[in-house]
Amino acid sequence: MSTIQSYIKEHKERFINELISMLKIPSVSADKAYKKEVLNTADFVLESLKKAGCDRVETCETPGYPIIYGEKIIDKNLPTVLVYGHYDVQPPDPIELWSSPPFEPVIKNTKNHPEGAIFARGACDDKGQMYMHVKALEYMTNTGNLPCNVKFMIEGEEEVGSESLAWFVPRNKEKLANDVILISDTGMIANDIPSITTGLRGLSYVEVEVTGPNRDLHSGLYGGAVANPINILSKMIASLHDENNRITIPGFYDKVEELSKEERTEMAKAPFSIENYKSAIGIGDVHGEENYTTNERNSIRPTLDVNGIWGGYTGEGAKTVISSKAYAKISMRLVPNQDWKDITQLFKNHFENIAPKSVKVVVKPHHGGQGYVTPIDTIAYKAASKAYETTFGKTPIPQRSGGSIPIVSLFEKELKSKTILMGFGLNSDAIHSPDEHFGIWNYLKGIETIPYFYKYFTELTINK
Ligand code: BES
Ligand code: MN
Ligand code: MN
Repeated sequence: MSTIQSYIKEHKERFINELISMLKIPSVSADKAYKKEVLNTADFVLESLKKAGCDRVETCETPGYPIIYGEKIIDKNLPTVLVYGHYDVQPPDPIELWSSPPFEPVIKNTKNHPEGAIFARGACDDKGQMYMHVKALEYMTNTGNLPCNVKFMIEGEEEVGSESLAWFVPRNKEKLANDVILISDTGMIANDIPSITTGLRGLSYVEVEVTGPNRDLHSGLYGGAVANPINILSKMIASLHDENNRITIPGFYDKVEELSKEERTEMAKAPFSIENYKSAIGIGDVHGEENYTTNERNSIRPTLDVNGIWGGYTGEGAKTVISSKAYAKISMRLVPNQDWKDITQLFKNHFENIAPKSVKVVVKPHHGGQGYVTPIDTIAYKAASKAYETTFGKTPIPQRSGGSIPIVSLFEKELKSKTILMGFGLNSDAIHSPDEHFGIWNYLKGIETIPYFYKYFTELTINK
């Protein structure tokens, strides 16, 4: 029987080329102009699951992009792993900042990936990481090493809020029934410091519109006597943090879970260099909520950030104008127990409250989702930990991430199962940014580690 290591050695080139073929299809879910390509990517995933040995595959229609479902049921008495991933990607802009075109994948070496990385939009988030599971399944079915049942559910709207999946899951509970959900859509600390993601933040995303005069005005004729919506919006936004960088919205922190001293001490053991952190992103100093470390600020603490702000004249040269309107897009990253709908409402009430009479303010909620924490005393966590020990030769460190996969809390609510987040990306892989990439070593390491998760999860479940 072939081992996973020898199987990878033999099929490495093909594994890389297949991923490259999928990365060439620009499946940008946010932009309707890419609709055909998003659908073509769904077909690609469907075909790949068929070839990898699923006995049933299906394109499940939804109000939006389809969900690709696949399964291989070998014995109803054995446990079932449900794999989730997404085939859609973020828009590639700003395109001019890419060193090579986002949908023409190339392999280059980087500091963190001396063995090469594939540069393309979606390489790490999430096509590369999702496809590791397809190739791990191929290995297990081709070599008689699949120890349990497996189901795949791959969606095409993760980057725009997973609305169709939220519609699909409650309607297909039986079909999706499982013992554990397995996801590779997060990261790890470093290639020689494996970690398992044990937390995701929630999200509330809103857009605000501030309207002053009923038309754009001459900034000389009216300036000084009329509220300038851009000035007002800036001031309102600035007031959302106090001098300790705490968020000023009344009630915002009410449900925030405070970690014990012991938990914080445990967290602080994860290796971290503030100097490397600063130099990797070119900043002079870190910034954030008083009395919390950088790692705490971006994992166990909630945030409020402006993601975009516009209004007035932004073209070439100067135009003297007081704009009628100003806009901003604002995200709040939330921690477990903060309800995203409550927080959205608190934001809306507060932002409308602090607006002066000289302007009108409209707050439009976009999408959101709950945070999530994975317990580490479960069979699933132990199986994942053993799998990393086997292939990395080190025990992985549990680490909470600052990112969000809002659908995970819905899985728990509807399907009553826990999620294990086995991410193989690095923070330096530039997901959502120009020059996104995924290390070839990471890709192959993921394919190598996943079958061990199945093995240990099945063994531990049977011997429970
Ligand atoms: N895969 C990411 C989330 C992620 C990345 C979590 C790295 C932890 C580590 C996912 O595709 C994503 O981008 N999520 C969005 C939220 C979504 C509602 C658009 C996010 O976190 O901004
Ligand atoms: Mn993702
Ligand atoms: Mn993403």
